[in-house]
Amino acid sequence: MRPRRIFCYHPSGMSPTGIFDEFITQSPKARHILDVLKRSAATNATILLMGETGVGKDHVARLVHRASPRREGPFVAVNCAAIPDTLAESELFGHEKGAFTDAKNQRIGRFEQAHGGTIFLNEIGEMSPAAQAKLLRSLEDRVVDRVGGMNPVPVDVRVLAATNRELEAAVSEGKFREDLYYRLNEITVVLPPLRERPEDIPLLCEHFVREMNAELGRGVKGLSRTAMTFLSRYPFKGNVRELRTMIKRAMILCDSDIIWLEHLPISIGIGTSHLHEEPDPSQFATLAEIERRHILKALEITGQNKSKAAELLGIDRSTLYARLRGLKLAGEGAANGSVEPAQAAKAGGPG
Ligand SMILES: Nc1ncnc2c1ncn2[C@@H]1O[C@H](COP(=O)(O)OP(=O)(O)OP(=O)(O)O)[C@@H](O)[C@H]1O
Ligand SMILES: [Mg+2]
Repeated sequence: MRPRRIFCYHPSGMSPTGIFDEFITQSPKARHILDVLKRSAATNATILLMGETGVGKDHVARLVHRASPRREGPFVAVNCAAIPDTLAESELFGHEKGAFTDAKNQRIGRFEQAHGGTIFLNEIGEMSPAAQAKLLRSLEDRVVDRVGGMNPVPVDVRVLAATNRELEAAVSEGKFREDLYYRLNEITVVLPPLRERPEDIPLLCEHFVREMNAELGRGVKGLSRTAMTFLSRYPFKGNVRELRTMIKRAMILCDSDIIWLEHLPISIGIGTSHLHEEPDPSQFATLAEIERRHILKALEITGQNKSKAAELLGIDRSTLYARLRGLKLAGEGAANGSVEPAQAAKAGGPG
């Protein structure tokens, strides 16, 4: 039997709930979720974190661990989607020497590595059926069965799991065990996508500018008002991760201490000088001009495929056609972003 680890509860004196301040949000929906997580952090409850890519599931899992009495113990993150089915059992639960042909030595699995701490099972929807069965056994009996082992090994592990798949759908399709699903979702939270909390965008921008200032050794003060307006309307399919990447890229591209619109992807590679926000009205691009260039860029990126371009632009195909007509680009085919409407009309091309 392993010795039980004794943990000092937050020896730093830092309030365990204060740790959740590192999840930047002012959205009432997300704040409610943080309240649930703060309450659950102190317990051993299994938490299932759901939500689209980039919404902060990994980030939250680490915060839960750090706010829990297990914070001095290990935090072991496992990406279930990255483990081939044949290796999943051995990776997670370990194996004894000689358990199978390649088992030259004993291997301690990820569950045992997490003893006294937290295991974070990422993309749990991708776990193999055999590993699902063993996981259920571990959750129920607090032991692991190493592959080829004779005796169960007791483990003291708190389980957090994440998925960006509808697990319930996987259960009804027979791809995910129902009993395991109900065992995992003692607490389930769905982190909202960024488009449902646009009020978080300015706060997150400020946070990432600070983070990148430290990382890149810069002194950027923030974003111009126009750049912020652009971001507050941007669809962010990749959620917070996409926003973070955008800020990082902008800070690498800009020499100034302000991030201007031209440093954001709307203008990358499409001739940006006229978009500069210096208040010279004669130089200032009209919305129609920006739209025209953005549509041309989408067509260029997608090899002039209008369906794909429409998808990229977040509009349907018929809307794209209407816009192309409205912008007198209806005949736009093989043109690139620098072609003027008059030329484009002459150029014709595939529809
Ligand atoms: N509310 C937030 N405050 C500060 N940083 C955040 C927040 N949400 C996400 N991040 C940061 O955004 C990035 C993406 O978050 P994370 O990796 O947790 O997303 P995820 O939901 O696990 O995505 P995936 O499903 O693709 O694995 C990370 O750098 C993370 O630290
Ligand atoms: Mg993740």
